[in-house]
Amino acid sequence: MDVERWALKTKNGNTELIRLIRAEIEKQGPISFAQFMRNALYHPEHGYYSSGRCAIGKAGDYFTNVSIGPVFGQLLAAQFAEIWERLGKIHNFVIVEQGAHDGQFACDVLEFLKKHAPEFFEVLRYRIVEPFPILRDRQSLTLKPFQEKIEYHDSLRPFAGVHFSNELLDAMPVRLISGGVEKMVDVQDTNFVFVECPLLEGNAVSNQPALDWVDYVAANLQRGYVIAIDYGRVGDEGEGSAQVRAGHRILDSP
Ligand SMILES: C[S@@+](CC[C@H](N)C(=O)[O-])C[C@H]1O[C@@H](n2cnc3c(N)ncnc32)[C@H](O)[C@@H]1O
Repeated sequence: MDVERWALKTKNGNTELIRLIRAEIEKQGPISFAQFMRNALYHPEHGYYSSGRCAIGKAGDYFTNVSIGPVFGQLLAAQFAEIWERLGKIHNFVIVEQGAHDGQFACDVLEFLKKHAPEFFEVLRYRIVEPFPILRDRQSLTLKPFQEKIEYHDSLRPFAGVHFSNELLDAMPVRLISGGVEKMVDVQDTNFVFVECPLLEGNAVSNQPALDWVDYVAANLQRGYVIAIDYGRVGDEGEGSAQVRAGHRILDSP
């Protein structure tokens, strides 16, 4: 295995999380980038999302459509109303949102529908799928005015209506695979480094969790639509289809 280049800058990171990941690598050898990403974002205590440390917006690490104002939610609300009409104005219509962060998108949608589509607002349920308690607390605070409309679950369940997500898929762990080689994360001295390993599984894909998620949503959708908004480039991972961001800057990794 060759050490490819210095990778993740750990100076400003969470020292406890860095210690845990380092210990994992020292015990089992180099880990996939997906495993590294899973730890960094979703470690139960220290993960960027799971611990509630994630900061979106001007004072945070990146912007999303939701963080720049209510227009995005208003546009999607109009789309949800159209879907409800197309489904024959059913009475069990559910808007399911996954990756709802602090609940702002849901709030923008419900405010708009209450004012501009009262008939739809009356019948709909808004279901947030949120596995992280700290984010659920924030959502219920933001959505207090709509608490009768909202239900929270930590996993999907069958529904008729629309499943919505904004930038959920890009937060799912990816492996860095290119040309029969996988970039894995190792430790050298006290730093994380990338090492290249030959790929043993012939049919490995970089985004298996996202593919599994598609099956998971399809299995729960009884009737309706799925709207998943995200960004990316079609092409080789070697061109850098994965990005690491902090403080509105793209970091020199991966
Ligand atoms: C990039 S943020 C986008 C947040 C928000 N949708 C927005 O546009 O501002 C990704 C979000 O997906 C959430 N997430 C990741 N995996 C999830 C899962 N399996 N179920 C629910 N939320 C998840 C993270 O906790 C995080 O809040």
